[in-house]
Amino acid sequence: MTEAKPTTPADDPGPSVASLETIVSLSKRRGFIFPSSEIYGGINAVWDYGPLGVELKNNVKRAWWRAMVQERDDIVGLDAGIIMAPQVWVTSGHVANFSDPLVECSTCRRRFRLDELPGCENLTTTELRDPTIVERLGLKCPVDAGPLSAPRQFNLMFKTHMGPVEEDGNEVYLRPETAQGIYVNFRNVRETSRKKLPFGIAQIGKAFRNEISPGNFVFRMREFEQMEMQYFVKPATAAETFEYWMPRRRAWYERYGVTPERLRFREHRPDELAHYAKKAVDVEYRFPFGWKELEGIHNRGDWDLGRHQQATGESLEYFDPATEEKYVPWIVETSAGGDRAAFTFLIDAYREEEVRGEKRVVLGFNAELAPYKVAVLPLLKKRDEIVEKCHALRDDLAKDIMAVYDDTAAIGKLYRRQDEIGTPWCVCIDVDSLEDGKATIRDRDTMEQIRVDLSQVKPIVMERLAKARG
Ligand code: GAP
Repeated sequence: MTEAKPTTPADDPGPSVASLETIVSLSKRRGFIFPSSEIYGGINAVWDYGPLGVELKNNVKRAWWRAMVQERDDIVGLDAGIIMAPQVWVTSGHVANFSDPLVECSTCRRRFRLDELPGCENLTTTELRDPTIVERLGLKCPVDAGPLSAPRQFNLMFKTHMGPVEEDGNEVYLRPETAQGIYVNFRNVRETSRKKLPFGIAQIGKAFRNEISPGNFVFRMREFEQMEMQYFVKPATAAETFEYWMPRRRAWYERYGVTPERLRFREHRPDELAHYAKKAVDVEYRFPFGWKELEGIHNRGDWDLGRHQQATGESLEYFDPATEEKYVPWIVETSAGGDRAAFTFLIDAYREEEVRGEKRVVLGFNAELAPYKVAVLPLLKKRDEIVEKCHALRDDLAKDIMAVYDDTAAIGKLYRRQDEIGTPWCVCIDVDSLEDGKATIRDRDTMEQIRVDLSQVKPIVMERLAKARG
């Protein structure tokens, strides 16, 4: 894979936005994302989606579902519980292995992930588990240069209790990945959907990880959403299935507007593979804080079904009617983050430009992802007939798409506000509209305006939207 090599400054396209603060501030100001429980001072690594953010994230999830379930004859959906039988996580290897190496500063008490300390990014798994590593490398606290403890493995799973009594016997976990809900339902889904291999099961849902060092806004959170698809195949075909999914998953981000130069593949070194993976390739994005994982594609072999079969004594084998063979299917997984994808689309859509000597901020979302598809704006809010026509048009549009009415500023400012939240089309109704029954449609990107019959506004918007969907 040519793109796995480190990027040099010459071929690094740079981020879409110079600083992360620009996105954080826009998100707060315009109602995309807020700190959770803010009036209580917030809670670290949990974020809430505001009126625009929830629309964006829902649109991202819908676009993923369309590509991964609706448009495919070989993939079906599932919505499994967040809490599962605790034994699932023992079998899956998460209780024993789903941990990060933690070191603690004995003066400031801050805790760090060892592999995120300066100079430790490329340590092998064996080195990260070596109790002498801190001493050998002379590592110090990056904040106050205090002494650091030897690394200990910190399990990332959140625990809680099931039922009215808190005792050891009823501890359960909040799932750290949605995938296991798919594996334990493999037989139920295959039998009821009567699917033959190869076929996939897709799921979107919350996952929880008690990350040691969350951060970079919604990039790494403790509560987040995953969009995962598990593709069950004959073992001999897993490698080619992996190659099949890689370009398709990258293309999905491009289809919805991510700049191709800001995407790349990176293959995991053997010593950084997760406990279940035979091979892993990340789709990475050039975030303002560097190239980082956006989605993981994993060849999980028969690790999951094999172990669940062994632990439960329930057969998870597949009988292939064509060859009359019986085998435990191998799994190729595509695992994306709902929040990370929405964050990426938001960052990549951001642009600033100068229009007639003034700065114009635009979120150039693909129309499918834009929170509002259309804004209906009166030129004069004091003219009741204009306002009435605006509301009638908005109500009609809102039967099919997200449409908003706004009259809280002059028209120029209203346009700029809609540009800044990524609304692809604005419709303005003015005094002439009362005479000629026409309205103006303004395009967010070109700022071109066309005058059309009011009755044509909805068909035109719907046609443009269908085109954006591709
Ligand atoms: N089932 C495989 C799995 O969970 P992963 O690479 O650990 O693989 C998959 O996670 C995706 O989930 C990541 O690529 C990322 O998009 C998202 N993700 C993981 N941890 C996250 C976190 N703490 N905050 C936000 N998104 C996260």
